[in-house]
Amino acid sequence: MKIAPSILAADFAALGAAARAAAAAGADYLHVDVMDGHFVPNLTLGPAAVKALRRSVELPLDVHLMVEDPDRFLEDFVRAGADILTVHAEAGYHLHRTLQRIRALGARAGVALNPATPLAAVEAVLSQVDLLLIMTVNPGFGGQKFLPFVLEKLAATRELVDRRELAVELEVDGGIDPTTAAEAVAAGAQVLVAGTAVFGAPDVAAAVSALRGAVAD
Ligand code: DX5
Ligand code: ZN
Repeated sequence: MKIAPSILAADFAALGAAARAAAAAGADYLHVDVMDGHFVPNLTLGPAAVKALRRSVELPLDVHLMVEDPDRFLEDFVRAGADILTVHAEAGYHLHRTLQRIRALGARAGVALNPATPLAAVEAVLSQVDLLLIMTVNPGFGGQKFLPFVLEKLAATRELVDRRELAVELEVDGGIDPTTAAEAVAAGAQVLVAGTAVFGAPDVAAAVSALRGAVAD
């Protein structure tokens, strides 16, 4: 099980320090939420911030693009240092071409599904996906409540991935705390994104340990 603290919940005046705290806490990835004000009703960070984070930590950067027509920005984000680049299945036009481009640029290719989007939207390309991000809130904001109905899709995805022996990593994002982390892992998640539960906590290292402990129980 991997933990990917989401920098969205950190102090934006001290992103480098937050990233280093996550690394020191034993995080596996650093999750970076990119929002464009079109696909989601919020604006966050761009390639310049990814580049600065790349200089701050050696952790793999897990860049989550909540961006319409993401093909326009793939190269910018990979050049800035994204190790995993995730696009939303709902946000582009030719998902297969987008995934090929991400891999050709040298990054791992991720796809995200909104809570309402069925697994069928990505089934045909799943063998060409490195990470499948199952959103457990509607994207756009940190601090929202975990949507339990998504667990059924997560379990079905786990079953399909195992049956087809695919190498895809299953990640969940939104409303993850020690309680929902345990539920998500039981349903088959391998990577837990957590913003508020990590950077909203007084002690980042204790918060990461609490997530690991909840899953180990
Ligand atoms: C939501 C983002 C999440 C967000 C999660 O659109 O994709 O990564 O940072 O925040 P929490 O963990 O607070 O729900
Ligand atoms: Zn995210």
